Amino acid sequence: MINYKVNPGGRLQGHLRVPGDKSISHRAIMLGSIAEGVTEVRGFLEGEDSLATLAAFRAMGVKIEGPRQGRVTIHGVGLHGLKAPGGPLDLGNSGTSMRLLCGLLAGQKFDTLLVGDESLSRRPMKRVTEPLARMGARIVTTERGTAPLHIQGGQKLTGIDYAMPVASAQVKSSLLLAGLYADGRTCVTEPAPTRDHTERMLTGFGYAVSRQGDKICLNGAGRLKAAAIDVPADISSAAFFMVGASIAPGSDLVLEHVGINPTRVGVINILKLMGADIELLSSREAGGEPVADIRVRYSRLHGVEIPLDQVPLAIDEFPALFIAAACAEGETLLRGAEELRVKESDRIQVMADGLRALGIYARPTPDGIIIEGGRLGGGVIESRGDHRIAMSFAVAALRASGTITIHDCANVNTSFPDFVTLASQAGLKISDK
Ligand code: S3P
Repeated sequence: MINYKVNPGGRLQGHLRVPGDKSISHRAIMLGSIAEGVTEVRGFLEGEDSLATLAAFRAMGVKIEGPRQGRVTIHGVGLHGLKAPGGPLDLGNSGTSMRLLCGLLAGQKFDTLLVGDESLSRRPMKRVTEPLARMGARIVTTERGTAPLHIQGGQKLTGIDYAMPVASAQVKSSLLLAGLYADGRTCVTEPAPTRDHTERMLTGFGYAVSRQGDKICLNGAGRLKAAAIDVPADISSAAFFMVGASIAPGSDLVLEHVGINPTRVGVINILKLMGADIELLSSREAGGEPVADIRVRYSRLHGVEIPLDQVPLAIDEFPALFIAAACAEGETLLRGAEELRVKESDRIQVMADGLRALGIYARPTPDGIIIEGGRLGGGVIESRGDHRIAMSFAVAALRASGTITIHDCANVNTSFPDFVTLASQAGLKISDK
């Protein structure tokens, strides 16, 4: 059990490069493994989630060297070169691994069993297994529609035209990956834009993907050709520091080489709406993804009604944004974010409990929350094993009047190894006891 103790006050300064993007790291391993040729990856996230994906492909016979300082070499086996693993594939805490692998493995000749930790075993999987079943996949879940998932190989898949009921990049990606193995054309329509790393990377691997409006399509039975991948720093990890620098007087921080894909920048848009001082420096392209250095300086924030169209673009950043709201003047209102209730934890409830423990008014609603900005006190926070909750309350200490103790922080390693070291360097008074 790892707990954080964060002393109050301080400010964030200097230059910081947070670890590689989690979503892109997963996809680099998956697509590199089923490509033809050798894929060299730089900037890979050496966190437990992406390492779970890496271990799964090694277990299916793919030779993968590294990671060594973010470098990974994947010897692709081609679309049909994966082998039956010797046992269950344990995906730990990683929803992305499990949902994307469902699609990719539904079209293999062999059976697989996907398992995860307690949190992952509670999360809804029907959102992928149902549309995959329509394509011809056979995947058995528990009665509650959760893992363990038994995927029966040797099925013939056929492309579908699917309109997603929820805006989910994991569902979209899962179906597109199954579509690689399907007869005919697979199309997915999104109710709102979601992260498009799968489409971009497929294109980078020479696989034709078309987009018309909100509909993304590909044909089965093509080939992926190995390509170099430069993984940018994860905007979701940068978000804690963007909020920290915005709320702590005297802060002036530059976050280097951060991915600013338009489907991921909700946190920047929302913070700016709240009055944050955020500047994008030297915007550029790296490996098919837009990247920039992000300068954040302290600014007085005010509460806002969060625009509905920003919700999917900031879906992982709400725990951090709630801390910004707690430090802002006035009320912040979030709606249309019921998805937050089925993340690594119920992020609406767990954040509301934590904010209240620090003396902030927070009222959860079925699909969002109302937060009244105020004075943060010290206190004890239960992170419920959710990495993003733990890191959010850590940066809250910058504006708290007392020490914040955060329980159950081991899962920070799923997305942000070295958080404590990096956060200390930037100015947070944090230790793990
Ligand atoms: C992800 C998609 C999002 C996000 C998750 C990573 C991905 O999930 O919350 O952390 O890499 O595709 P949903 O697809 O459930 O919105």
